[in-house]
Amino acid sequence: MQEKLIEQILETLTLEEKSAMLHGAAFFRSGSALEKGIPAVETSDGPMGVRNEFPGDSWIPIGLSDDYVSYLPSNSAVAATWNRERAYAGGQILGEEARGRGKDVILAPGINIKRDPLCGRNFEYMSEDPYLVEELAVPMIRGIQESDVAACVKHFAANSQETDRLWVDTIVDERTLREIYLPAFQGAVQRGGSYTLMNAYNKLNGEHCSESKALLNRILREEWGYDGAVISDWGSVHTTKQAAESALDMEMSVTADFDEYYFANPLIEAVQKGEVSMADVDEKVRNILRLMLRLKMIGPKTGERKQGAYNIPEHRESIKATAREAVVLLKNEDGLLPITPERLEMGAPHPLTGYRKKKRIAVIGRNAELMHAGGGGSAEIKALYEISPLMGLKIQLGGNVDIQYAPGYYIPGKKDVNEVNWQEKSLERQVDCRLAREETAEEALQRQEIERQRITLRKEAVALARTADEVIFVGGLNHDYDVEGRDRDSMKLPYAQDQLIEELLEVKPDTIIVMVAGSAVEMPWREKARAIVWNYYAGMETGNALAEVLLGRVCPSGKLPETFPALYSDTVTYKNGEFGKPEKVIFQEGIFVGYRYYEKEGIQPAFAFGHGLSYTSFAYDHLQVETDQAKENGLEDVAVRLSLDVTNTGAMPGAEIVQCYVADPVCRMERPVKELKGFAKVFLAPGETKRVNMELPRRAFAFYDVECHDFVVEPGEFTVSVGSASDRIWRQETITL
Ligand code: BGC
Repeated sequence: MQEKLIEQILETLTLEEKSAMLHGAAFFRSGSALEKGIPAVETSDGPMGVRNEFPGDSWIPIGLSDDYVSYLPSNSAVAATWNRERAYAGGQILGEEARGRGKDVILAPGINIKRDPLCGRNFEYMSEDPYLVEELAVPMIRGIQESDVAACVKHFAANSQETDRLWVDTIVDERTLREIYLPAFQGAVQRGGSYTLMNAYNKLNGEHCSESKALLNRILREEWGYDGAVISDWGSVHTTKQAAESALDMEMSVTADFDEYYFANPLIEAVQKGEVSMADVDEKVRNILRLMLRLKMIGPKTGERKQGAYNIPEHRESIKATAREAVVLLKNEDGLLPITPERLEMGAPHPLTGYRKKKRIAVIGRNAELMHAGGGGSAEIKALYEISPLMGLKIQLGGNVDIQYAPGYYIPGKKDVNEVNWQEKSLERQVDCRLAREETAEEALQRQEIERQRITLRKEAVALARTADEVIFVGGLNHDYDVEGRDRDSMKLPYAQDQLIEELLEVKPDTIIVMVAGSAVEMPWREKARAIVWNYYAGMETGNALAEVLLGRVCPSGKLPETFPALYSDTVTYKNGEFGKPEKVIFQEGIFVGYRYYEKEGIQPAFAFGHGLSYTSFAYDHLQVETDQAKENGLEDVAVRLSLDVTNTGAMPGAEIVQCYVADPVCRMERPVKELKGFAKVFLAPGETKRVNMELPRRAFAFYDVECHDFVVEPGEFTVSVGSASDRIWRQETITL
């Protein structure tokens, strides 16, 4: 019925009208054929909320007062919750707000694999582990699309660096693609049903992803049966003919010469000259029409399309719930955290007046008060509000505690005057941007001035710390570093924060260290620090959620969705020199990404994949593992059922993330030491026990065999282990398949 209508509409359209539907007529809007009843498709970034409005042909925002929105936790924060329900809830908010703002497609979620800690867009992505990404992306997409808005899962595929992002050729072998870089996308389109997908900027094995027949035609369309719409990343199309012959449907870009886009006049001419077939054009138009029908933009159900809503209180509550679960407690010696109410009680009453001195908390570090919503590139958000950590503490504690703030470190102003136009500029090729060059005299002066400022702020902060009862340092990164279009050049903390932290720990060994950042940093002081808390960019309620955790009103339950190596030089990409180069990057490490690499090499990271502490404690008992040999054929058939008891053995209600890893110790192919194949988040009252059940399909035990181009399970013994982190395995069983 739907397909019939598509054919009927298609017949009425001229070549010009078809072309209009296939490319941008504004930065975030396709062309339309209103006479024929075909509206434009309205798109918007992005992953952390619906972006502000642009005029359509300029990157300077209009500056409206009605396009403030709910600011959602970044995907890295969502991933730190390890909670499918939080991912789903985030999707629901994003979809509802997008629809409320009149959008048809929301350009999210970003699900690229975190291959290297320095990738500028890591904060927008979820994890180094394909299974974790897929498990969270699928409910997120379903949540988005409930509002009759399309998700646009991005960036397909192997887009794991920003350096030379439009031109870099990523060389990835077949097994690695299939085991690491493709599964989450397959899940996103097949299980999540993402109505649209965005191709990546980079080349993959020699072909630009926007025109890769291997990727778009064979894998996505033929193999995965995808009938959604493929949208180009903005400015990622480089040809008319190849792109038209590939399974790309809509070309979007960052320049205002809309008629000159490859799918605009050049496409019309190419069809007229017989260089591109009308059949190829029609196939694209069908995909766009199908998208419109699914979204009820056209067709018999237009009257039923949801209207959406933005900035509603329920969204903020849900965002706060996610932010709470996203806080990761990395270290907590002798229960230094939480800061209990007793520690903040006012001093003894004055014998005569009864006056009681307030306890003093020194909050140190720019990230305590910095707002992050407005940065990062296309993920920027014009947030309705953003509660900073400092404000969060003040909100939670009110007037009976003396909270003093000192910036502690100095952040120099931005050098780039074209910042507002970065999106258009980002298409310029800057292959030498990472090369060292000599400092100019002016730069030397600036450097000295920065140094002077740093010393002043550091002294002031250390002096404040001396006078305080509690010291909380809030540092990390910001969107000058966690940013689109540029990779970091070091994993070290910027702004001389390491020195400041060392000095704070010197005068106050109990200083609580909070890192707010979107990707891993080296923490050379981590042995000395007694409490370390990690907070990804977690949305508008981040400061409230963080304060609740610091003050023990909420028990932390986040876990790292990526490994934090001790040193950048521990990474495989550093060792093989295959990251952040222009022109060509070979994914030499193959499937050994993240913990798969560290475990293989026996490298002890600073904090392992899946690590995260709690204020309470959990016990794992009665692990039962049963194999189901009845059905031996399908990869999706259940092969193993496991169950175990998890008990909250502490005094506080809390949640544990039970992680299940699988290993194939003897195999003709080299396999990782273990791989995540299941997880469950369990909420438990003190003393409560719950039985956790997981089912593992045969796919969980398979590897990709390049000989038969498919996943195979090699019969024999496997181990199934459960634990609270990749380096905290509590129970293990050997099974035979
Ligand atoms: C980014 C995409 C984004 C698009 C539109 C590109 O620069 O790579 O993720 O959706 O711009 O803003």
